[in-house]
Amino acid sequence: MRSTVALVNAEMVARRTEVSVSPSAEPLPVKANMVQLQQVILNLLLNASDAMAELPPNQRRIEIATRLGDNGARQLTVSDVGPGIAPEPMTEVFKPFVNTKENGLGLGLAICRSLLEARGGKLVFDGEVTRGARAIVTLPPD
Ligand SMILES: Nc1ncnc2c1ncn2[C@@H]1O[C@H](COP(=O)(O)OP(=O)(O)O)[C@@H](O)[C@H]1O
Ligand SMILES: [Mg+2]
Repeated sequence: MRSTVALVNAEMVARRTEVSVSPSAEPLPVKANMVQLQQVILNLLLNASDAMAELPPNQRRIEIATRLGDNGARQLTVSDVGPGIAPEPMTEVFKPFVNTKENGLGLGLAICRSLLEARGGKLVFDGEVTRGARAIVTLPPD
């Protein structure tokens, strides 16, 4: 999480998007490929930032956090305050080539989900949020 945030820092400064990082108090080891995990987090951060492009710069905020879930599950969430995703598209957006951007390919979420599923993990959008979107990555304990 920290290395990916560091990697996109300059881009987020250019996009005038504030990123706050909230790591869990305890370390949460996972068995995964570091570069693939960075790729997942990178896509989620860029999606969150893209979703807030129409907001005034002083409102563009992303929160990235990790926490211990049920049964030792490792959770990472990326939350934004953009327009969010309506209930039906919430499953559609994971299909290849589904995108709403002029320069998007629409493969990001499909690739992220399959990388995570190959490790026994999951990627969903939180259906409970009242504002913006929150992506939830779950991986089993190491
Ligand atoms: N945080 C978000 N808020 C709103 N819509 C989102 C968010 N993340 C993804 N989406 C929607 O899902 C689509 C697919 O995302 P993705 O697979 O990463 O492809 P791309 O980023 O190339 O468009 C996006 O084009 C956008 O419509
Ligand atoms: Mg994307």
